[in-house]
Amino acid sequence: ANPGVITDLTKAFAFPISAYDGLVEQFIKELHEGLHYEQRMPMIPTFVYELPNGQEKGVILSLDLGGTNLRVCRTTLSGNGEFDITHKKWTISDALKKGSGKDLFSWIAERIEEFLSVECSPMQVEGNYPLGMTFSFPCEQLDINVGKLLTWTKGFRGMDVVGHDVVKILQDCIDARHLNVTVNSLINDTVGTLLATTYKHPGCEIGIIFGTGTNCAYLEDQSEIAKIKPNAANFKSPTNQQLINTEWGAFGNTSGALPANDYDRQLDARSSYPGKQLYEKMVSGLYVSELARSVIHDLAKGGQLFAEGSNKPKADAELGDLAIKERFDGAMMGGIEGDESPNLDAIEKHFLTTYNLKTSKADRETIKYICQLISARAARLSAVGIAALIKKRKMLTLSKKVIVGIDGSLYNKYPHFKQHLEGALNEIFDAPTVKAKISLITAEDGSGVGGAIAAYLASKHASSHA
Ligand code: BG6
Ligand code: GLC
Repeated sequence: ANPGVITDLTKAFAFPISAYDGLVEQFIKELHEGLHYEQRMPMIPTFVYELPNGQEKGVILSLDLGGTNLRVCRTTLSGNGEFDITHKKWTISDALKKGSGKDLFSWIAERIEEFLSVECSPMQVEGNYPLGMTFSFPCEQLDINVGKLLTWTKGFRGMDVVGHDVVKILQDCIDARHLNVTVNSLINDTVGTLLATTYKHPGCEIGIIFGTGTNCAYLEDQSEIAKIKPNAANFKSPTNQQLINTEWGAFGNTSGALPANDYDRQLDARSSYPGKQLYEKMVSGLYVSELARSVIHDLAKGGQLFAEGSNKPKADAELGDLAIKERFDGAMMGGIEGDESPNLDAIEKHFLTTYNLKTSKADRETIKYICQLISARAARLSAVGIAALIKKRKMLTLSKKVIVGIDGSLYNKYPHFKQHLEGALNEIFDAPTVKAKISLITAEDGSGVGGAIAAYLASKHASSHA
């Protein structure tokens, strides 16, 4: 591509070091406002008041509906932070994501039945199996096993279940199949990540997902949660603390604080929920790959790519699926950025086999550079969220290390994402502080184990109140 075009893109996706402080401050402000008022960053109080101590024991079922996959898991918690997990995983098809919510839940119940029939014959219990439901969407919790879906995110569209209790909908589908399973707890995947990390690494108080979407849960003092009335029924924490599901993907929605460019604005306008999840749309896997696709598509239409030196614009009909929304995903983008071969062979093969497009070496270098620009900005913005939370909770003043549990495909699989995130934290706080005080830990099987721990804690409380 022409050097002027590259310079413009570099400027459009830049996030300079000088921008960190202002954005971190704004993030802290929005976290704070969300604890006070409705219609801001959701900052949803959960019904998890207690963290595991690693000594929990039992065999428990859990369900994990993430952004890409559904997993049904049977976890054996064996104390001392040890666990063993057996699971089965299914990809959630586009038809299920975009179709009716009832169909999605009935498919989930069918998968639970399939799992039970294969994996659970040795797990005979009297009565029903308790099941912990990890559900990666914003739900207003009315109890540990009651949660109203506030809105779908990450491209899901089953409007028939929005505003309804997702535990009841799933339980009805389970009962229709006569399975002896009771959904006894509902948590967000970030809460699951936090619980699973704490089980192994006591002291973890922050759980984060960088995957198809992005979000964070953390332990907050109840005195800070101004939107809950002190005498409300759900204000019953023995520790005066409770986990908050921030739904931080909504950062910037009302303030306009994010450094959005024309590509960001177009992506938002084309999305299922314009004006919503603006931080998530600059940070997470589903959207960064869509940003990269739209930039590559745009350059091709302007004769800057795939033109074999002619600068001839390509029509959509010649670009195949590259002209279609979301037909370039995070895994593809990661594969491109991870191509270290001298001739960029993986990129060449990818464009030829997926879109039937021939690339020159210069095209491949431009494509890789576009992916690097967008993912590096995402990592820097991700560090802003982490830094804001650490500063809000004044965690660096504590004598103990800040432990952050992290899960999700972007963090675990995308080449260099982790390093860029750590680099950005070093830029915000300074490297010796980060090394001495902050520990980012990859959550192992986060939501499967986290869901099991939540179900364990819920059963323990139910039996102590019986
Ligand atoms: C998985 C967790 O590892 O990561 C899920 O078990 C979580 O609960 C998921 O939702 C997030 O990653 P992705 O990439 O599937 O959105
Ligand atoms: C989206 C969802 C949120 C979830 C996150 C990561 O932001 O709204 O609930 O935690 O994706 O999966």
